[in-house]
Amino acid sequence: MTIKEALAHAAKRLAAAGVEDARRNARLLLAAAMKAPPGAHLADDTIVDDDAAARFAAMIARREAREPVSRILGRRGFWTLDLAIGPDTLDPRPDSETVVEAVLARVADRRAKLRVLDLGTGSGCLLLALLAELPRATGLGVDRAPGAVAVARANAAAAQLGGRAEFAVGDWTRGLSGAFDIVVANPPYIPRAELAGLMPEVAGFDPRAALDGGVDGLEAYRAILADLKRVLAPGAIVALEIGAGQATAVKELVNHAGLSIMEVRQDLAGIDRCIVATGG
Ligand SMILES: C[S@@+](CC[C@H](N)C(=O)[O-])C[C@H]1O[C@@H](n2cnc3c(N)ncnc32)[C@H](O)[C@@H]1O
Repeated sequence: MTIKEALAHAAKRLAAAGVEDARRNARLLLAAAMKAPPGAHLADDTIVDDDAAARFAAMIARREAREPVSRILGRRGFWTLDLAIGPDTLDPRPDSETVVEAVLARVADRRAKLRVLDLGTGSGCLLLALLAELPRATGLGVDRAPGAVAVARANAAAAQLGGRAEFAVGDWTRGLSGAFDIVVANPPYIPRAELAGLMPEVAGFDPRAALDGGVDGLEAYRAILADLKRVLAPGAIVALEIGAGQATAVKELVNHAGLSIMEVRQDLAGIDRCIVATGG
């Protein structure tokens, strides 16, 4: 079988399964199945050998079942990092880079010895992106899911950031002491009743604990904000990711927690995505 034939067949199957951008998905998976280096050109008439064809068939079957390409490959690019992901981590979203940008825009001295806290760290994406930009900062990533903490720790080591990043299994700030200069969080914020209606790629593969924001989608914000001030250094920057339409409600919770709102930052689609506040 040639690459052209393999792609045509796979793209047809994926399109029939309702996968958007079926041909591009097939191409990405075929490149991985053939162990081609990133960006390599695959000529249409190249023969796909039997081992690669078997790997490709298994990948296409998973994608047909609506597993995202990133989960099939086990990796996701975020900011400047190439991160591993797993069953216990959210697949990091490009929108979450808004949180990183929002914090960096407020840091006066990028070479300062800052302490960073990432609540609900998942793959570690927010903490590791910040540490990559703040060369003397150190940080702690907390997550309730032990499997996520293990992946985040491995990502830190792979990015040569393990010496400045610690990770712990925990319930938001419970039991934490210390004064953090930067706190970021992308908490679960989908209202529970909406979970079943999410795209199959999300509903079937992102961990429920990473999505479920309780009845109104705001439970995690309430829990985080109840104790956040206690762990803030003077003048700390707090950046919370929010879901579409949640800005007014989360701003109210942030004000109620005694923090001062500095900005509501939008993502590339123009949707309010991050509340930046200060406190401590
Ligand atoms: C939306 S995901 C965000 C993951 C990652 N920060 C990102 O942006 O891709 C939310 C994370 O919060 C974690 N989480 C949920 N409840 C928690 C709690 N009570 N304490 C700590 N982490 C929690 C979940 O396990 C999940 O990893």
